[in-house]
Amino acid sequence: DVRGIVDASILAADFADFGGEAERALEAGAQWCHVDIVDGHFAKILTFGPPVVRSLRRRLPQLFIDVHLAVENPGEYIAQLAAAGASQVLFHVEACRSADAGHPSPTYCIDTVAALAREIRAAGMRAGVVLNPETPAAVIAPLLSPGAVQLDCVDCLAVQPGFGGQPFDKSVLQKVAELREMCPTLDIQVDGGVNLKTAAACVQAGANVLTAGTCIFGAEDCAAAVGALRQALAA
Ligand code: DX5
Ligand code: ZN
Repeated sequence: DVRGIVDASILAADFADFGGEAERALEAGAQWCHVDIVDGHFAKILTFGPPVVRSLRRRLPQLFIDVHLAVENPGEYIAQLAAAGASQVLFHVEACRSADAGHPSPTYCIDTVAALAREIRAAGMRAGVVLNPETPAAVIAPLLSPGAVQLDCVDCLAVQPGFGGQPFDKSVLQKVAELREMCPTLDIQVDGGVNLKTAAACVQAGANVLTAGTCIFGAEDCAAAVGALRQALAA
């Protein structure tokens, strides 16, 4: 139904050479390149912005650029990312709170999520959401009704947002299974702590996109790491 994809997260790459690192991952067999734009507010780390997407697009015209927006105001970046050449934009539902609910109230505003997804698609990109480990799948169920699926992809974070190299939170597996049950055609990715030990369980739960940083760019043999992830997807 859905095809297996290795999504290489450049958060673990050499920041002085994003183009070369993305190329290295592609040559190793990765299909997507994952770009974590973090604003220092949604998570307490400042990474980089849309210009990195623009440079990657210029260097690699065919690259599938999967942008993960870990930012407080994702709507502010849609036009810039479209112009920069992003293929897909993922934003956090936790950033879509209803206007009258103070931060950090866990009141997600599903209408805001739907509107943002529509805006991303209207700008010519694929649209998806990210769920923090503690955010349940049920929150986005209204956007996944059969025949009216409003999302192309859901990224299930298995770590707290913003940082690479954290341990894998196994509770993500149950969430992946619930989402797969809701929608057989959805691209479901697991992001954070994905490695040669955890990949198989992600796929078995129903994930078809494995997003990995440290496991790929921190490996002594990058091609072997990507090959093992692809093998987990094929099993
Ligand atoms: C975490 C990011 C991930 C990160 C994963 O907030 O969304 O994309 O790069 O890194 P690893 O694979 O090292 O856990
Ligand atoms: Zn990410």
